[in-house]
Amino acid sequence: MQTASNPALSTIEAKKKVFGMIQAFWESQCVYVATRLGIFNLLQEKSQSVETLAATTSTNVEKLYVILRALGHLGVLQEAPGRVFGATELSALLVTNAGPSMGHFAMHITEPCQWDAWKELENCLHTDVVPFEQANGKSVYEFTRDNPWSGDTFINAMSFLTNHAVDALLEVYDFSQFGTVMDVGGGQGGLIASIVKKSGCKGILFDVPYVTQTAIAYLEKQGLDVDAVQIISGDVFAEVPSGADAIVMKYFISAWNDEDAIKILNNCKKALPKHGKIVLLQAFVPDLGEPPESPDGILPGLFAVQIMVAVPGGAWRTQQQFKDLFEKCGFQLEKVVPTGTNLSAMEFGLGA
Ligand SMILES: C[S@@+](CC[C@H](N)C(=O)[O-])C[C@H]1O[C@@H](n2cnc3c(N)ncnc32)[C@H](O)[C@@H]1O
Repeated sequence: MQTASNPALSTIEAKKKVFGMIQAFWESQCVYVATRLGIFNLLQEKSQSVETLAATTSTNVEKLYVILRALGHLGVLQEAPGRVFGATELSALLVTNAGPSMGHFAMHITEPCQWDAWKELENCLHTDVVPFEQANGKSVYEFTRDNPWSGDTFINAMSFLTNHAVDALLEVYDFSQFGTVMDVGGGQGGLIASIVKKSGCKGILFDVPYVTQTAIAYLEKQGLDVDAVQIISGDVFAEVPSGADAIVMKYFISAWNDEDAIKILNNCKKALPKHGKIVLLQAFVPDLGEPPESPDGILPGLFAVQIMVAVPGGAWRTQQQFKDLFEKCGFQLEKVVPTGTNLSAMEFGLGA
């Protein structure tokens, strides 16, 4: 079949593509295991034999070799004679001991609680179950709160996604027009720190307590003045703090169904002055005929499945769907600014 993203493939190419899709979950699990064991951290220092790596990571040498050889074939590692492995450009991205990285994102997306959730994908089509909750007995936010490794990995994964996109965002969107910007659901504060540093405005970081408690140390590492960013812990469903003339929300509203998103947006409206804005930072699921892939390789339509698996009613939406959602709460779309990454900025105001 010919589609917009798949123009006329030969049978061989079509089969290769489907084999690739089938193998994709093996690839992610090999990446997960090696990242979790710290193999990429070790190889970033120097090339090492599989025997040394197995001894350092307390793993079975022959089984570890099977995984590392596969990672070599995938181009993640380089294998030299004598079963010696070395780093590559790809493995460098998966190093996890030098700040938030793609390795944290890889581990967050492929850790066992997520794999267990995906087993419930078919089930959720016939029932009301939320796959993550069905598999793990609690919500993703409760799970990350209760499991320190998962919580830490999640926070670092989010910080990686921020660092990955923030420079491009700040090149094209000017936050210096605002006196105070608040990041709602802002994680450990990487985005608000960058906004404050670049634009000179004041910042507020708002998130749940177990996340904000990690933010102080993170913000200090960014070299910020202690009063530049006020940290407020709370629940967005109870109240959104006032004091900002713009609210940014990055990959936050997409975790909620329309009913919850409307509650959140109404609380934001109460917190904002008349001239206030919301700057929604998101990837959009493309409409038919638009390119399916973001400039940085993310497939928003596939990410939408991950969000459906992870959170109740979570929805990555099209641009039109976001516009409709915000309009229901009295916000008007003022502009859309693409950034050249997966993120676009949609600026909403409260009208005249
Ligand atoms: C998907 S993460 C996005 C984090 C950050 N905006 C980013 O893009 O890196 C969602 C964030 O919302 C926060 N959050 C979830 N429920 C919340 C609530 N009820 N009130 C405030 N924050 C909440 C989570 O702790 C998490 O930091």
